[in-house]
Amino acid sequence: MNLEELKNKAQEELELVDSLDSLEQWRIKFLSRKSELSQFFDHLKDLPLEEKRVNGQKANEVRQLLEQQYFKKKQKLEAESISQKELDITRPGVKVERGHLHPLTLITRELVQTFEKLGFDIALGSEIETEYYNFDALGIPENHPARDMWDTFWLKPKTKSQKSKLLLRTHTSPMQIHYMETHQPPFRVIVPGRCFRFEATDSHHDIQFHQLEGLVVGEDVSLANFKQLMIDVLKEIFGNEIEVRFRPSYFPFVTPGLEIDIKFKNEWLEVMGAGMVHPDLFKNVKYHYQYQGFAFGLGVERIAMLKYGINDIRLFFSSDLRFLSQF
Ligand code: DAH
Repeated sequence: MNLEELKNKAQEELELVDSLDSLEQWRIKFLSRKSELSQFFDHLKDLPLEEKRVNGQKANEVRQLLEQQYFKKKQKLEAESISQKELDITRPGVKVERGHLHPLTLITRELVQTFEKLGFDIALGSEIETEYYNFDALGIPENHPARDMWDTFWLKPKTKSQKSKLLLRTHTSPMQIHYMETHQPPFRVIVPGRCFRFEATDSHHDIQFHQLEGLVVGEDVSLANFKQLMIDVLKEIFGNEIEVRFRPSYFPFVTPGLEIDIKFKNEWLEVMGAGMVHPDLFKNVKYHYQYQGFAFGLGVERIAMLKYGINDIRLFFSSDLRFLSQF
């Protein structure tokens, strides 16, 4: 085959090349060491000088031309393959991992919104409290047997002269005192927040958990108001079929005291303590005797466990993505 035929054949076949793979085949066939063109160069050395020069020059021209056309084709095919990859709308998409809210955040927001609709204000307390607010002002002086109900993380005093002992609040009830010291009735307020207890953990107890405290004070606030409020709120959260039970109980800062249970899968689970605010608390904050009120402390994890069907409270703080990514 002479040079001209070789060139034409190469160009015809290059026209038909439609992929990077077949382009590589083409390159091997027409431009590699083993190609016909290479063999043509090999034979040059056997020719007389003048023919060697003329044919050598022609062969070089053909090689340069084919190389140029090869690179042009390569660029075109590469550009096509990239744009094809970018535009292939039939390829399965890459799933983007989105952040989401913790189940406790979800349930707290739902509770807060429910109470907000009923005209409650929202207050936030501090996780570090003094012994006075966490205990004494709530009718639980030192040596009172009820202190055993709240196993406490005490904080080391910073100085010897520090007057009040500090602790991690064992409940959100201290905010009842803070709030009453700074607000005059009538009011209704809720206080969501984290609490701590120095106790053994099991599926229903953890050393940290959340409560939502509620306090309603006015001139004619009754236990019947409380009962209806709770039935309404729990129905809003769990639906109309929910069964609610009120049991007499004891807490030093209320009289009478109650506990409220919810029935779930045929089992009663305690979700909050409550009662009519003890008159001693009103005395502590110097309220006029005409006022009365009710208070409640709701276990946020307990509500979330019932609502989402979670059987172990420790999962909330486990950072286990298999658990968290379900919400
Ligand atoms: N603070 C109580 C606890 O942690 C719960 C509680 C009971 C809160 C009665 C109240 C209440 O406001 O009235 O166990």
